[in-house]
Amino acid sequence: MTEHSSDLDAFIAGLPKAELHIHIEGSLEPEQMFDFARRNRVALPFRTVEEIRAAYQFTRLQDFLDIYYEGAKVLLSAEDFHDLGMAYFRRLAADSGRHAEVFFDPQTHTDRGLPFGVAAEGLLAAMDEAERELGVTSKLILCFLRHLDEDAAFATLKAAEPWLDRIAGVGLDSSELGHPPSKFARVFHAAGERGLKRVAHAGEEGPPQYVWEALDVLRVDRIDHGNRALEDQALTARLAADGVTLTVCPLSNQKLCVVDDMAAHPLPLMLALGLKATVNSDDPAYFGGYLNANYRAVAQATGLSREALAELARNSFTGSFLDTGQVAGHLAEIDRYVAAQT
Ligand code: ADE
Ligand code: ZN
Repeated sequence: MTEHSSDLDAFIAGLPKAELHIHIEGSLEPEQMFDFARRNRVALPFRTVEEIRAAYQFTRLQDFLDIYYEGAKVLLSAEDFHDLGMAYFRRLAADSGRHAEVFFDPQTHTDRGLPFGVAAEGLLAAMDEAERELGVTSKLILCFLRHLDEDAAFATLKAAEPWLDRIAGVGLDSSELGHPPSKFARVFHAAGERGLKRVAHAGEEGPPQYVWEALDVLRVDRIDHGNRALEDQALTARLAADGVTLTVCPLSNQKLCVVDDMAAHPLPLMLALGLKATVNSDDPAYFGGYLNANYRAVAQATGLSREALAELARNSFTGSFLDTGQVAGHLAEIDRYVAAQT
């Protein structure tokens, strides 16, 4: 017998957790898009919030990316990025989120003429405020856009120089197919030499080979998504043996047709195979839900137990870039929560 869904929802609601895969530009809600457009006198191709939501019908990653880059054009000032960040952190705190490792796409903004510091300063101010006022900690990860070339990624790393002491790592996102991780071998090496952590989207739409490259060429600390790694047994064994964290995004996978049906989502299989899977929202404003909505959707559709949910939450901290003392504190909080619930 699976647990009654409202009991499981309540368990998820209070479960302490971290989010390791959130694109801050993907948390731009349609209402905020209108507010920022008005504030910045930017014309939008939509008249109502409903029209915007109705446009969010995707059959693959690129359909989403086209609209996501359009939406980001309303973000013009450090205040916009601060407000965007704070709105996200408030939602995370309401979901019992204790920590987030937040992606941003500087090239989406510098290519529109904004200096690097506009997005960076606005987000860093929100991160400080979230820690002070909500008790939510966070780290910032700068993502390179893989549809652009490696020189552009190097220019971005250079532009980031004054902020690197406040940036935890680099990532790789945007259109996966045709843009293998090896295209960014040198810039990831340079980032590693500067002491930055490394993560990369791989195996969302791209083949297992891209996951191998992320591990062996980019030397990443985590894989973002990783769904297609399951097609390759040797790769699955490697990920399990090395304890590589996968930042899995259930509602994103459903919305972008990476899975046909949530009931067939590979998350339970990943756990059964000993993989360090986590649950994340990716681009919550576009995919229909924040962190707890992702836990609920996959738990209800696949019948995850409380033990599995607690394991996912534990993985979110052990896979984070927090130091070991902080991780231990969060794991102890999960243990206390689980003990009090049973
Ligand atoms: N940028 C924002 N969300 C993304 C995703 N799910 N995959 C690749 N690039 C992205
Ligand atoms: Zn993503």
